[in-house]
Amino acid sequence: MNTENLIRGMVNPNFDRPGVDCRRLLKVEPNFFAALKSEVLEFVERESSSNMASANHPLKSTGPYGNASVFSLYNHSGDPGDFRHNNSPFIGNKWFAKAQQYPNIDRFLRVFPEKFNFRINLLGNRSGLKPHQVYTIVPSPQRGQQVLLCRFHLPIVTNDSSYVIFRGNYHHFEAGEIYFFNNATVHTACNEGSGTRIHLVWDVVLTEEAFYNYFVGTPEETLLTRAADPTVPVLKRQPFRSYRPAFANSFYEKTNKVGIPTALLAQPINKLRGLFFKHSSLHRPSRMDIGVNALRSAVASSG
Ligand SMILES: [Fe+2]
Repeated sequence: MNTENLIRGMVNPNFDRPGVDCRRLLKVEPNFFAALKSEVLEFVERESSSNMASANHPLKSTGPYGNASVFSLYNHSGDPGDFRHNNSPFIGNKWFAKAQQYPNIDRFLRVFPEKFNFRINLLGNRSGLKPHQVYTIVPSPQRGQQVLLCRFHLPIVTNDSSYVIFRGNYHHFEAGEIYFFNNATVHTACNEGSGTRIHLVWDVVLTEEAFYNYFVGTPEETLLTRAADPTVPVLKRQPFRSYRPAFANSFYEKTNKVGIPTALLAQPINKLRGLFFKHSSLHRPSRMDIGVNALRSAVASSG
């Protein structure tokens, strides 16, 4: 798939058109993955999680059932239960407060400077979420432009009966590999196996550099290699019912204070594309000077 079609596929579900639901991107180096996994398990054991189904939890509107809990590792307060600004693309003073106790988690987080949240998601046996979707094209709070948000998953512990589901298509994400997860598509996740499913999940503002790192190059070659085949097979299909819950609107109203840009959603995709690729003001400047050339070579090599 060339870059143009990939971008179109990432954006299309915002318009309720079929697009790219998920892609296998990067493989974590096995020794580092073992160290990372051990710290994630330690984190889950020692720190206090928050139950997504509890009253007033910002993620409650995803319709969790069974045992769905979550830890926030990247926020303003350092409290793993603090999800107040989870959905805000302002990075501001967000940080990983427990870097000293968990140096490998910290090292992993530093590979991805564009992230504006980072969490450990736990799904117990026979647990999951309700199908839902959100807008991933959102206004930039800083410049009145638009940005494309992208979500990524790294399964830490999983089983063959843990699924991510897009429009009723069931996929399985394997441990140790980083995936693009298009949450603009109607999506859900469930764990029908035994044991708890543990995923690292994070969202980024898609800049040129982020696009290159996730979809084309390797951001940190000692830790990551590019997956040979980006396709994630569909394992089974079930009918689904689409809904864009009220929270898809209130979500951004609360976080960005500007609401959903309905006028924006009517714009042609090529116009959007120019906007989000140039945008870099939401994350701390870092290595952005390689972005332009990286994108050029990305286009050249994938065309
Ligand atoms: Fe979701």
